[in-house]
Amino acid sequence: MRSSFFPQSRFLTTRYGFPVPPSEVVMTCGSSSGICMSLETFGTPECRLYLEDPTYFIFPAIIKSVHIGTGPNTTTLPSDEYGLCVEALETRLVSTTPSNQTRDLLYCIPAHHNPTACTLSTHRRARLVLLARKYGLTLICDEPYQLLDWSTEPLPRAMRFFDTLDDAVLADLAARTRDGDEVGAAALVSAIASPNAAHTTTTTTAATTTTTTTAAASTSTTPPPVVVSLGSFSKILAPGLRMGWLHAHPALVDRFERHGLLWSGGGLNPMGCYLCTQMITDGTLDRTLAHLCTVYRARSQALCQALREYFPAGTLHFREPSGGYFVWVRFPEWCQVEAMCGYVPPAGEAPPDQLVGGPCTSQNGWGVAVRSGATCTISGKHFGTWARMCFAFYGEEEIRWGVRRLAALYRRYKEHMHM
Ligand SMILES: Cc1ncc(COP(=O)(O)O)c(C=O)c1O
Repeated sequence: MRSSFFPQSRFLTTRYGFPVPPSEVVMTCGSSSGICMSLETFGTPECRLYLEDPTYFIFPAIIKSVHIGTGPNTTTLPSDEYGLCVEALETRLVSTTPSNQTRDLLYCIPAHHNPTACTLSTHRRARLVLLARKYGLTLICDEPYQLLDWSTEPLPRAMRFFDTLDDAVLADLAARTRDGDEVGAAALVSAIASPNAAHTTTTTTAATTTTTTTAAASTSTTPPPVVVSLGSFSKILAPGLRMGWLHAHPALVDRFERHGLLWSGGGLNPMGCYLCTQMITDGTLDRTLAHLCTVYRARSQALCQALREYFPAGTLHFREPSGGYFVWVRFPEWCQVEAMCGYVPPAGEAPPDQLVGGPCTSQNGWGVAVRSGATCTISGKHFGTWARMCFAFYGEEEIRWGVRRLAALYRRYKEHMHM
């Protein structure tokens, strides 16, 4: 079955910049199906599940559906501009008795996060894999935005790469990189990944300084794999195809392929797989991806520009994204985003312009809605003053109209709140 994944593996090898053999790839019906089946394959009803807070807003519904990692078994972790706080994870792991019967799981979105748009730094990626090895975690890395990147700085490599490095190399990488310096990290990673690289590690203890030289990647001493990476054609080709891939060490791929759904019918979606293969082979995917990066960059800039233009200075806080789909925006402390979007201005107050496009379906009657950050949490209680704004769907002009109208709604709501 895997020989049919040669085009996918060639595509990923080129795009990821490290070898992705066909034995490491299985086609899925998109990231969502990959998440579901990974939870079922690698988790158990008793296992603990660690996840970022905030997270992909549908993820809580998925864990409820499969009854894995819910309730007291769920541990949320903070994140910041460099992604998941691995220190917070370590603190939790150190103070938690390991489950003897089962491996625990961690779900994360390493690149251009949904909703925060942040990317996990190379430094933290190395530390995360080391922690996963030490504490018996399987990392479900949802990476649908890894290839949707227009940053001028190097993007950290996809998570599977770090799983191919042995402990000494990872520890050294963690020691020699730091958050905020992806240029330096990329140079180190390239040196490590070069075919004949030997790697020098200097360990200092109280009594001695030892220098050891280890082979760079994938040696026989490489510990058991921990990374399950999920990709999606939804974001880079067509969501309606319902196609994606799982990328992991062959031992994990073997386990995944024993899922009942994959036994039946020679794969999850052979027709969709065939279509993707054709579009990889004839260059459609490469062209579409290049086009999307250009269009989305312009749309993300239009959104950020409109937010700066239509809201008074100092009202909103956000960082300009360099990939993915989202801008993560903080409103003032008094402004609960869901309540603002549900606020209906007094009858007779006209919105600032004519509606663009179809009929107005928003609660406020003004045709604007943004996703409250609270819907991106397990508790539904935090991040209520944050909004996730997606720039992928609308054209630049519609985005500007939408922000203008949102700013008008915000002004009315502010008056209503006597702020
Ligand atoms: C982080 C994340 N995971 C999964 C998905 C769903 O992807 P797919 O359409 O491939 O199921 C999305 C899409 O919004 C997403 O942002």
